[in-house]
Amino acid sequence: MDVSLEGKVALVTGAGPNIGSGVALMLSRYGARVACNDVRREAAEATQKRIERNDGTAMSVVGDVTNEADVKRYVNEVLDAYGKIDILVNNAGLLGGRPLLLESLEGFNRHVEVTAAGHFLNSKYVATSMIERGVKGCIWSVVSSTGFQGLPGVIAYSFHKSGLYNFVRAAAIELAPYGIRVNSITPAAPAPDNPEFIAARQAARPRGAGLGRVDPNDLPKWWRKWGKTNVRDNVPMGESPTPTDIGHLVAWISSDYARLITGQDFTVDGGVRAKSWAYSPEGSDFAGPLPLIPMDAS
Ligand SMILES: NC(=O)c1ccc[n+]([C@@H]2O[C@H](COP(=O)([O-])OP(=O)(O)OC[C@H]3O[C@@H](n4cnc5c(N)ncnc54)[C@H](O)[C@@H]3O)[C@@H](O)[C@H]2O)c1
Repeated sequence: MDVSLEGKVALVTGAGPNIGSGVALMLSRYGARVACNDVRREAAEATQKRIERNDGTAMSVVGDVTNEADVKRYVNEVLDAYGKIDILVNNAGLLGGRPLLLESLEGFNRHVEVTAAGHFLNSKYVATSMIERGVKGCIWSVVSSTGFQGLPGVIAYSFHKSGLYNFVRAAAIELAPYGIRVNSITPAAPAPDNPEFIAARQAARPRGAGLGRVDPNDLPKWWRKWGKTNVRDNVPMGESPTPTDIGHLVAWISSDYARLITGQDFTVDGGVRAKSWAYSPEGSDFAGPLPLIPMDAS
């Protein structure tokens, strides 16, 4: 018995280059045709090409998830090309941000807007297209472990990600009469596995950049230090998940076998969410999980 998305069409927002690209590729590997949205044309097209060199069918739809005219236009582009949308993955988001005491109103509002308006507009117009065509589809929200646990340094991110959990539950109940399901996936610092992204990041990313880091020159005199985050040494199974692992889960739960699974949150995290805050795994004695089965032929 195979899980298959054969005949289905997916739209992934913010489809590049890390989690969105991995999820888009996996939906394609399970048989869906995939529309790759991004506000950056090159990001959408790179994911389209990644799918095509793995023998999948994909298209790029460029647009800002917070712009209603853009969303209506690119949803219609997908409907014109593929006839319907069965799966929407609301993945677009702005990473990073600044701490409560240093964030600007403009920065705070834009971070919230990309998640809030992006989820609202894409879910509204894609769900309407499903209802009009009798598609009993599946809508996804990509959240973050930062949505249910406090992480210093990214106050807007913490705020808008947590709101998604109840967006998902409420949308699931509103769309249940149409047979449309709404669920979320909560990544916890996945390790990138898109070869192009890994190469570009090694070439460009300054050391120490990332979620919640602030340039020391921006700090006021009264600033007090926070503790440290330690992602890689805190995973009970000893290995961080990849976008491919996340994509398997999104594909399985998007399939028809999951017809009654709605309003739920899922994670693929090697046991991170299950563990007591007081438990720190020892970094040297892991059997490790089964090896990852390569899904990107490039
Ligand atoms: N990377 C992580 O460790 C991590 C962990 C937990 C959750 N997440 C979530 O996963 C999602 C994807 O993250 P990622 O690491 O792949 O980030 P990413 O930056 O690689 O991809 C996000 C994409 O969204 C696009 N985007 C931003 N604003 C947009 C807009 N207004 N309209 C359309 N596209 C827009 C960007 O151009 C980018 O290509 C985000 O929602 C993020 O919050 C990431």
